[in-house]
Amino acid sequence: MKFSEQFETRFAEMVTHYPTKRSALVPTLLYAQDEIGFLSDEVIEELAQRLSLTDLEVRNVISYYSMLTTKARGKYNVQVCTNIACMLVGGEELLKHCKKKLGVKDKGTTADQMFSLEEVECIGACSWAPAVQVNYDFHENLTPAKLDQVLDSYRKKGTQ
Ligand code: FES
Repeated sequence: MKFSEQFETRFAEMVTHYPTKRSALVPTLLYAQDEIGFLSDEVIEELAQRLSLTDLEVRNVISYYSMLTTKARGKYNVQVCTNIACMLVGGEELLKHCKKKLGVKDKGTTADQMFSLEEVECIGACSWAPAVQVNYDFHENLTPAKLDQVLDSYRKKGTQ
């Protein structure tokens, strides 16, 4: 398993900030996912070895955090919150709209690998509901029309 030089530099620096190597697991998984796109068996094995953990311990952590995935996703992962605050102001309508616009089901990926769609629980943006998270960016106070603009801007960015 070969990571980029940038990953190796970040990893070497990051482990110095924690009292034990295993404490660096979550940020390391995020860096690896950002680089590879998802956490493959190969990545899991490699990181488990580096942090003196078993593969199972790493997989248990991955299964706990919704932002971590062992399956390939699109370039932009669209997470639509349908929890109570969002549901009351149109979260479910946004999800339905996204499914139709992208032509995918929940946890599906578009044929061009540009978008993945996921229905999620609260993403901590209740005061600005309904909210959607795309990769690390939040989009709030959405309507289907505003969401169209958001998705179109990612599509444009992704094809440049
Ligand atoms: S309920 Fe949707 S962000 Fe909290």
